[in-house]
Amino acid sequence: MKHVPHGRPLAARFARPLLAALCLAALPATVMTVAAAPLEAADKQSPRQRIPFNDGWKFHLGDPDGNSAPYLYDIRPEVKESADGKVADAMPEEAARIARGNAPLLKPWVLPTGNAFIKDPAKRHARPASEPAIDAPYAKAGFDDSAWRAVTLPHDWAIEGPFLTTGPYGGMGRLKTWGPAWYRNKITVTGADAGKPVFLDIDGAMAYSSVWINGRLAGGWPYGYNSFRIDLTKYLKPGDNQLAIRLDNTPESARWYPGAGLYRNVWLTKTAPLHVGQWGVQVRTPKVSKESAQVAWNVTLDNAGGAPAAADVTTELYALDDKGRITGKPVATVVSPTTTVAPGASATVAGETTLKNPRLWGPVPTQKPNRYTAVTTVRQNGRVMDRYETPFGIRELRFDGVKGMYINGEHVPIRGVNNHHDLGALGAAFNVRAAERQLEIMQEMGINAVRMSHNPPDPQLLELTDRMGILVQNEVFDSWERKKTPLDFHLIFPDWHEQDLRSMLRRDRNHPSIVMWSVGNEVGEQYTGEHGAAIGRKLVGIVHEEDPDGRPATTAMNWAKPDMPLPATMDVISLNYQGTGIRTLPGQFPAFHEKFPGKAILHTESASALSSRGEYQFPVPGALSAAVRPGAGGDPKTQQVSAYELFAADFGSSADRAFASLDQNPYTAGEFVWTGFDYLGEPTPYYGARSSYSGIVDLAGFKKDRFYLYQARWRPELPMVHILPHWTWPDRVGEVTPVHVFTSGDEAELFVNGKSQGRLKKAPYAYRLRWDFVAYEPGTIEVVAYREGKEWARSSVKTAGAPAALQASADRATIAGDGKDLSFITVRVADKAGLTAPRASNAVRFTVEGPGELVATDNGDPTSFVSFQSPQRAAFNGLVLGIVRARPGARGPITVRVTADGLQPATVALRSTGR
Ligand code: GAL
Repeated sequence: MKHVPHGRPLAARFARPLLAALCLAALPATVMTVAAAPLEAADKQSPRQRIPFNDGWKFHLGDPDGNSAPYLYDIRPEVKESADGKVADAMPEEAARIARGNAPLLKPWVLPTGNAFIKDPAKRHARPASEPAIDAPYAKAGFDDSAWRAVTLPHDWAIEGPFLTTGPYGGMGRLKTWGPAWYRNKITVTGADAGKPVFLDIDGAMAYSSVWINGRLAGGWPYGYNSFRIDLTKYLKPGDNQLAIRLDNTPESARWYPGAGLYRNVWLTKTAPLHVGQWGVQVRTPKVSKESAQVAWNVTLDNAGGAPAAADVTTELYALDDKGRITGKPVATVVSPTTTVAPGASATVAGETTLKNPRLWGPVPTQKPNRYTAVTTVRQNGRVMDRYETPFGIRELRFDGVKGMYINGEHVPIRGVNNHHDLGALGAAFNVRAAERQLEIMQEMGINAVRMSHNPPDPQLLELTDRMGILVQNEVFDSWERKKTPLDFHLIFPDWHEQDLRSMLRRDRNHPSIVMWSVGNEVGEQYTGEHGAAIGRKLVGIVHEEDPDGRPATTAMNWAKPDMPLPATMDVISLNYQGTGIRTLPGQFPAFHEKFPGKAILHTESASALSSRGEYQFPVPGALSAAVRPGAGGDPKTQQVSAYELFAADFGSSADRAFASLDQNPYTAGEFVWTGFDYLGEPTPYYGARSSYSGIVDLAGFKKDRFYLYQARWRPELPMVHILPHWTWPDRVGEVTPVHVFTSGDEAELFVNGKSQGRLKKAPYAYRLRWDFVAYEPGTIEVVAYREGKEWARSSVKTAGAPAALQASADRATIAGDGKDLSFITVRVADKAGLTAPRASNAVRFTVEGPGELVATDNGDPTSFVSFQSPQRAAFNGLVLGIVRARPGARGPITVRVTADGLQPATVALRSTGR
């Protein structure tokens, strides 16, 4: 598996002096037919190096002598009593005032790191004249870290646990993510690096990072979800240099599991003094039709040298294939007029061209995710100084209040899910294959969109959505000035909102998959009238400045009503739950539509339906949507929620009720379901558990019944029918055991042991067929679905016998031996006829032979506190997952064996292809 990294960034816009000169080349660019230099030749000549910096790290939890005082970014409110999250539709409180005392705080040295993202030069931060008066032993070159643990990035130190079995920590996932942590590594500077700027590029560090080089504090970035750059140049010396990164996750910083550590890729970037700045190429496609597309770009050049540099910029546009590789000759080559960049300053070079018959980017399945790349070559006196790639897509995007969203002229209803950033048993440490698997499972269900709730993702996730043709709502914040948890982003919103928002926009704006920016989720400023609206207006203004071609800005609102000030500040109206109607309140789609007839309206969060895979509870209510209550959808003893898929969070609704509200208001643009996957933390309604119940798919990636309810709606041309519950109920013989059916057909007939239970037709605004009075008898239930009177699909479920054997299968049998690629192994507990034993909880053990290793296990049970690293795990309702990788560099056969006492074992044969 090969993944093309996004962009070939970068250089430090923040490295340049505050008085950076900006000169926009106004002269027209020249369009040439022949490439100025063959691409590969330019590539080889380019001094730019982007070196993965994930190996060789040493890691330690805690500060020297347990004393964190010298390293605090800022004074924080003291949290006297921890509490789990309050219900999602409650009003956030005022932000706590932070006492400003005389304690040494690192903030003055950290703030300048964000300067390039502050528009007003007067508001940028000067680095204090002196170094912070801290003796930081862990940052020093001489410190002996041989006893520290060796780790490879991406690394989430919190996922190992142990789980916190007591206390109020369910909201953050029952894993301790808080407390200081240090990472150390060496950077060796050789003669070849002389005169080159060197940058440390961190794709994400959770959180409040401070970066030390040779004992000096070079900078940092508080928000754990953004990517950032530290200019190391002036701190480096020839030979070995000691890098130390301190992270300081706070308790009560999130409503979900934030992860911890250097949980994304880290890079060392070396360039020539004259180079393309960080995320320095913006490609825009302001005018697009099937026949032609205007492609325009800005290239920001930084000159870190001591003399003016005359820069010649050539831009070549190439088509990319579906793997992101350059194909053929350039489709356009544009040479921009020579631009002089003053020493220590920046300049922007603009260019544009028109492409005939462009291959448009659009969402699957109705369109193709075609992409291009802009290859920027910078020359000085004929010598190549830089070569920088910027993948992009060409597509026309339009929103209106009549039907919602149009892409390349086609009306595209948003069929989306929300996903948090954790990858289940792997935690927050980003893994491309794990994320790709999640998206593949979602595409099988029929999604065409994902909302990044509630923070910018790993940049590689956007490379996946671009390549897979999945639309994205990229979101930056969960809170503004008002807090949701005592130590969340509100503490730094005043100082950092501009830097965090602009850096997300600059990093991500060339991704064609992003169709909307969200500046906030259910923020407390919904309640603060004009004051909140002013903040909204400011953030939307920043979006429009950084991305001027019409991608709308929005914020998700669960409370603000049409006549309040905040909604009017947004380009698109995004509602959480209130479209359908929160609790018993009436649905708000019509009122918003009436007030904003020209604006698209969508459900940024719909449903929040809850269930535990394979857990069916009786009696089953006749209602179509109900809040979970003891004995009615929920069992407080087992902390499981019934899988009849009728139950929801108090403020939410079943999927069926949410569908009806969209269909009854056909001007709506669509929905993002809360959520595609279960995630760590926020286990409403049972905060004793470790992970959520809201996923359509469980934490291990196993489908709940709800998967088929969405598939039936979102893939109407796929002949499918799904029955629930399972049919192995030795204790229920003769008892009423309702059977519900999800189908893309319009009618179905149910048979119990061959006897018809009647043929039912879907009523208007009904999305399931239900036989609520079936008396259980062992045997077979079968359903035959029809569409327009003709048989469409059929399915059956049989009563299973006692567990007898394990069956194991891999999602991919051949994996790369790069230490990252993964095989996900599903183990089923089966009876002797091979039927899944639907309640089996046998303890399953994994062993791996050959050049592979077990990375993690899971079973999707939200209440399980068994370590994700454990090679032994009980099945949850018949299923267990094992995640295996090949050892880096190793190739050859890998055998995964699964055993359980008293059951026939199974093996899976994998193969590592080497690196
Ligand atoms: C929403 C909130 C989400 C999550 C969800 C739980 O109100 O935006 O982050 O808390 O409720 O169902």
